[in-house]
Amino acid sequence: MRISILALLAADLPTTFGIPSQPPISNTTKLPTHFGVLLFPHFQAVDMYGPMDLINSISMLYANQTSMHVTVLAKTLDPVSTAMMPGGFGQSTVPTMTFDDYFSSRKAEDNQTSTESEDCGDGDGSHAVAKRAMRFGARQMSHDKMPSKSDPGDIDVLIVPGGGGTRKDMTAEIAFVKKLYPNLQYIFSVCTGASILARAGVLDGKSATTNKRSFSWVASTGPNVKWVPTARWVQDGNVWTTSGINAGIDGAFAWVSHVYGDDVSDYMAKSLEHNRQTDAHNDPFGKIWDVKGAT
Ligand SMILES: *[C@@H]1O[C@H](CO)[C@@H](O)[C@H](O)[C@H]1NC(C)=O
Ligand SMILES: *[C@@H]1O[C@H](CO)[C@@H](O)[C@H](O)[C@H]1NC(C)=O
Ligand SMILES: *[C@@H]1O[C@H](CO)[C@@H](O)[C@H](O)[C@H]1NC(C)=O
Repeated sequence: MRISILALLAADLPTTFGIPSQPPISNTTKLPTHFGVLLFPHFQAVDMYGPMDLINSISMLYANQTSMHVTVLAKTLDPVSTAMMPGGFGQSTVPTMTFDDYFSSRKAEDNQTSTESEDCGDGDGSHAVAKRAMRFGARQMSHDKMPSKSDPGDIDVLIVPGGGGTRKDMTAEIAFVKKLYPNLQYIFSVCTGASILARAGVLDGKSATTNKRSFSWVASTGPNVKWVPTARWVQDGNVWTTSGINAGIDGAFAWVSHVYGDDVSDYMAKSLEHNRQTDAHNDPFGKIWDVKGAT
């Protein structure tokens, strides 16, 4: 597998001078390794596949500097369709793990870690944050302990798309986000996905944005959120929220700049032939959709 990918890349090697050269990731100390994608029926395809296509491409072009794993999470393992109605027009994505199975797998891993730390004579193996730091440190330090396919470790980054499904019963999705968030490095929502974060309490007291056409509905799901009416994306600490659908792609490039470096983000934009919008405030859609306070 590895050989065939390398052969493929080699076949693409530039034969002319003056084309962009690939910048290395300058600081690999704390790169996220485990990406989670939350899905529900009637999600918006680009909300998920826009940012994920960028992540997928980084994992390919930077295979020598990164170790990346993705888990596609949903309430059940049934294929999740973008269609509004079961059997309606749409395309399906297959989840790799249910919300419940993710937490049981982490519990089993926690048990293992506390056994290991007892073996090492570490008295207090019970503190979740310390355990996580230990696992994370170990991942960074030793290739032997790099996340494997069978145990990729805790999720570092959760991507939450929006779509019509956010207006249906989201009880399981909201509970999952609420429980997972304290253990995440980053959470990233696109479009009306912000309503799931809002209802999970993740956005309380924070600045956030969402789809401008659905702005008033999403804002109603988070009365304690500082909703920003003119923004293509908003970063508040480790919480990234982006505006409608395609804005998620620019938000994802901004996140990549933050995590991997702006030169890497720029190189990826050229590789994916995307005209990046780098100004988060350049957002005409608030006014177009008559969002209160939009400028
Ligand atoms: C990884 O690949 C990039 C891009 O080709 C290169 O600049 C960098 O030096 C490589 N890093 C390692 C550790 O080989
Ligand atoms: C690299 O990143 C780590 C973690 O964010 C940070 O502590 C360290 O200072 C960075 N190193 C450099 C040279 O910027
Ligand atoms: C983890 O350990 C606890 C207490 O020892 C036990 O009750 C629980 O069933 C274990 N969980 C798993 C998934 O092994």
